[in-house]
Amino acid sequence: MDDPSAVESTVEDIVAACRSMVGLPYDGEPVDQLEHALQCAALARLHGDDEFVVAALLHDIARAPAVAGIPYDGPHEHHGATAARWLKPRVGARVAWLAEQHVAAKRYLVATDPGYADRLTEVSARTLTAQGGPMSPTEVQAFRSHRDWRLALMLRAIDDQGKVPGARVPGIDDYHGELRRVVAGHRGAAG
Ligand SMILES: [Fe+2]
Repeated sequence: MDDPSAVESTVEDIVAACRSMVGLPYDGEPVDQLEHALQCAALARLHGDDEFVVAALLHDIARAPAVAGIPYDGPHEHHGATAARWLKPRVGARVAWLAEQHVAAKRYLVATDPGYADRLTEVSARTLTAQGGPMSPTEVQAFRSHRDWRLALMLRAIDDQGKVPGARVPGIDDYHGELRRVVAGHRGAAG
């Protein structure tokens, strides 16, 4: 039997990390990082299960000062990989993979959708190079062999949409249910 207080304290850690993104700029977009996370999570509720919602909420968690505070990606570090390392022990490998792949999904779309690169924002186009550029055909094949690759693309689509100024969406406290279930499920599976 898992310790409910351990689940609760992990959920509180995650919520605190999310709250540390309030007021944090988001690549020149008209929303802050917390608003972006909450808009993405609200969209994810329309398309996926608890783990998908949590992945959408936390895909940019490496930007949070309480986690790593990575503002932009460099050649040796990108925020998807840092997020995945932070998320895996807390919410499990599937959520960590989905969060990490929101960067890979951009590289996939640039490689496979001729119009996608033109639709990237200036910052996103600039960071693409640091993130590895378009996927090679071998990387495309490997990406498509993962069971959740379509969900990773869905997360990327949500990521591109979750930046509407003043959008009315539920606050972070509305996600305690999903967070508790995912953290408890991961701890149960791991234990
Ligand atoms: Fe994002």
